[in-house]
Amino acid sequence: MSRIAYVNGRYVPHGEASVHIEDRGYQFADGVYEVVAVRDGALIDGAWHMERLQRSLSELQIAMPMSAAAMNVVFRETVRRNRFQTGIVYVQISRGVARRDHPFPNPAVRPALVVTARRTPLQSDKVIEEGIAVISQADIRWQRCDIKSISLLPNVLVKQAARSQGAFEAWQVDGDGYVTEGGSTNVWIINGDGHLITRPVENAILNGITRRRLIELAKARGIIVEERSFTLEEAKSAREAFLTSTTSFVTGVVKIDDTVLGNGRPGIRTRELRGLYMEFMSQNGDKVPSSHL
Ligand code: PDD
Repeated sequence: MSRIAYVNGRYVPHGEASVHIEDRGYQFADGVYEVVAVRDGALIDGAWHMERLQRSLSELQIAMPMSAAAMNVVFRETVRRNRFQTGIVYVQISRGVARRDHPFPNPAVRPALVVTARRTPLQSDKVIEEGIAVISQADIRWQRCDIKSISLLPNVLVKQAARSQGAFEAWQVDGDGYVTEGGSTNVWIINGDGHLITRPVENAILNGITRRRLIELAKARGIIVEERSFTLEEAKSAREAFLTSTTSFVTGVVKIDDTVLGNGRPGIRTRELRGLYMEFMSQNGDKVPSSHL
């Protein structure tokens, strides 16, 4: 089945979809993005993703290319045209097209909007059952990691380092020895009392939507959540560890560098939290009207 992309007002075949060579996203990574999970035809936490997208844009003084309501229609229509039930929507907005010059174009140009959507397989049973390994890497990124910017080169480099060492993710560590976040995931550990510990949201990490949702789900279960920084050493001696993201959901971490956690399998609490999140996904989300599918 041929894929369809939305590019600046038009739905076009994926193979023909393109942006201008002087798009500032292409030349300066001057833009932002979002990845939203689609489950059974529904956008998961679409309102929170939209809220974060608007915040990222406003921090960079890029205008919304259209209203949030209109953009939501584009997301759903892109899902519908690609005819799948479970996958992701990717949205990218750049400052627009202008002759290459570092400061913002003056007068401002129209921001460029690209939306793609595709089926993604659910994680393999092996990943769920056996968990994943992570390596540690120095966090060399800028001081506004709260903005979901398309400027991802440091993330690309740490993910590649992980891949080449047979690991799934890299946990980035700041100059004081504290873990910030993964290359594309948020980080969590569970201490001996069963408390969840995750880095507080500030400029050093992305305010993950999965993180935000899981904190709510865990608290509703009476699980204590400590939003505080932890060092790599503390993570290596934790009872359990896991990571979260739109595409990884809740995934157990069983090895950090050369240190195996617990018995080397995803822990009980991690599995409980994963179950909670998967249940939430299957019951929630803003359904694409079934008449459209
Ligand atoms: N990554 N931290 C970083 C640096 C990320 O890129 C992401 C998401 C997260 C988790 O955020 P959320 O729960 O909202 O997905 C944390 C997306 C999935 C990506 O780049 O593909």
